Amino acid sequence: MKKVLSGIQPSGQLTLGNYIGAMQNFVKLQETEECFFMVVDLHAITVPQEPEMLREQSESVAALFIAAGIDPAKANIFVQSHVRAHAELGWILTTLTGMGELERMTQFKDKSAGKESVGAGLFVYPSLMAADILVYNADLVPVGDDQKQHLELTRDLANRFNSRFGDYFTIPEPYIPKVGARIMSLDDASKKMSKSNPNVGSFIALLDEPSVIRKKISRATTDSGREVKYDPANKPEISNLITIYSHCANLSIAEVEARYEGQGYGPFKKDLAEHVVNVLEPLQQKYKSIRESGEIHEILKQGAARASELADRTLADVKEKMGFLVPR
Ligand code: TYM
Repeated sequence: MKKVLSGIQPSGQLTLGNYIGAMQNFVKLQETEECFFMVVDLHAITVPQEPEMLREQSESVAALFIAAGIDPAKANIFVQSHVRAHAELGWILTTLTGMGELERMTQFKDKSAGKESVGAGLFVYPSLMAADILVYNADLVPVGDDQKQHLELTRDLANRFNSRFGDYFTIPEPYIPKVGARIMSLDDASKKMSKSNPNVGSFIALLDEPSVIRKKISRATTDSGREVKYDPANKPEISNLITIYSHCANLSIAEVEARYEGQGYGPFKKDLAEHVVNVLEPLQQKYKSIRESGEIHEILKQGAARASELADRTLADVKEKMGFLVPR
């Protein structure tokens, strides 16, 4: 059985991009592998968060994991800050990371662009992410395309540690969907769909009401022309919608194209909205019942207990290998 780890930030509302790029694979992998899925609150605070919102969003993301189909009987669901080893290994790995490596990270460049002051946490964010993964010696990391570069750094840090202190860390592999690794904004297909986009029309939130979903899809920008044809280079807008359709209706790209041959964008968009609603409506009902039941706290407690067992062991090994004095 392989070990699988991934995380989602509790900053803003989760989107269809998070669902297609990452969560659908979480649900798939839990059937065959040992999985750890966490709410990465320590990462969220690399940009300012309002305390009450952070608490609410953390609980909400954990409930969304379950609503999306992650079964706490099959996978460990927990909050990053509940497992202390993450922060501690994060610091240790920061000391093995070069400034130049962090400066090259595109997520840092994007998030810091044009800002007058940028927190140091945002800069060292990737070392903490490496710790998240390495602390479980994870084999596979299901993520969207935008996290690939962070995964590369994680692999470099694992190799660096292994060559300096002796073979220890597993070198993790990214697990990225072939189609849907980068769901784009509904208003601009040159940008990825993001929960932090101030234009709410640019993303579909997992908790958007059906009427809102229909409206957002009907207003989504489409390329000129009328052919429902998958061609990301020349028709990025419609290609993005076809990708979403394919995931929500469980059809291949070719099947979606065939279905709308000669029909134009209108009927396609109308059906697309219904497929998205069909996926999100049951998810929302489940979400509501999980929140009302209050069971999430016990699930998170058990998830963190199991995760801590493994993570504490790794941290102790790492400290021993690096020459920290072991308390006696
Ligand atoms: P975050 O919270 O930005 O996004 C969570 C996951 O959703 C994927 N994703 C997308 N996939 C396709 N299309 C999109 N438009 C889209 N938007 C987001 C992301 O690739 C990600 O897989 N650094 C991570 C969180 C993290 C993590 C980790 C992930 C912290 N520690 C350890 C894996 C392993 C992040 O900010 O994801």
